[in-house]
Amino acid sequence: MKPVFNWAHRGASGGAPENTLAAFRAAVALGADGIECDVRAGCDGVPVIFHDSTLKRIAGRSDRIADLSLAQIKAVDAGGWFSSQFSHETIPTLQETLAATPASVRLNLEIKSACVPAVIEQVVAMKATGRVILSAFDHRRLHEARRLHSTIALGVLVNREPWDAVIRTAQRLHAVSLNVPRRRVSAASVARAHLAGLEVHCYTVDAPDEKMRMVALGVDGLFTNYPDRRHAQRPVDVTRWGERHDALAKKTRRGKRLPSPRG
Ligand code: G3P
Ligand code: MG
Repeated sequence: MKPVFNWAHRGASGGAPENTLAAFRAAVALGADGIECDVRAGCDGVPVIFHDSTLKRIAGRSDRIADLSLAQIKAVDAGGWFSSQFSHETIPTLQETLAATPASVRLNLEIKSACVPAVIEQVVAMKATGRVILSAFDHRRLHEARRLHSTIALGVLVNREPWDAVIRTAQRLHAVSLNVPRRRVSAASVARAHLAGLEVHCYTVDAPDEKMRMVALGVDGLFTNYPDRRHAQRPVDVTRWGERHDALAKKTRRGKRLPSPRG
């Protein structure tokens, strides 16, 4: 079986604060093949790595990243919320992230705001086009990226859209992958994507048994907060997983909650 690509989601964010250089270094140390991180820009247009539109969850402030200068963004403690051990961590720029990670490690830059030209300019300037894939839920950003760069790798992020429609979008964009939530992964959906020449990378999967189930269904890559929790590279009898899910669904109907990995 071919190996499944091991993406560290927001870096190794199970053990270090998400989207910080600490999480990216941990991902490299744990042997991740690539790092997924979220990119947006402040008011001066410099791409920085941050998931949310505001600082609320990470720094307890209501400021919007889009309204802050780079100096204001760099003054934010991006790690203290996770543990005092990380309170020196800052919000990294894209430039710092490219510089701090080895060229052998891929970067999935998930575009979260209107910053595509600046991102491409930075990636090109740092000669990193060969190790970067740009992804986005807002597919207009991917069309913009393709207009600006004819060969940079693109991944179409999928949520609830019809499968045929996202396949068509990906083909029009000459994208390499569909990046999809677990609930959209089935043997049939993966097979259709593969027939269309597209890889399927699944977010966000932390439990080793769930990783194994996704691998058995044929995915090409997994986004995980725990890149050190290995999935087996071998076929799994998926019918057994179906039985397990039925049992869990019954429990849920009785008012119990399903275990839900972060992401
Ligand atoms: O790129 C996969 C995944 O990161 C998309 O969701 O909210 O974690 O950015 P989110
Ligand atoms: Mg993301």
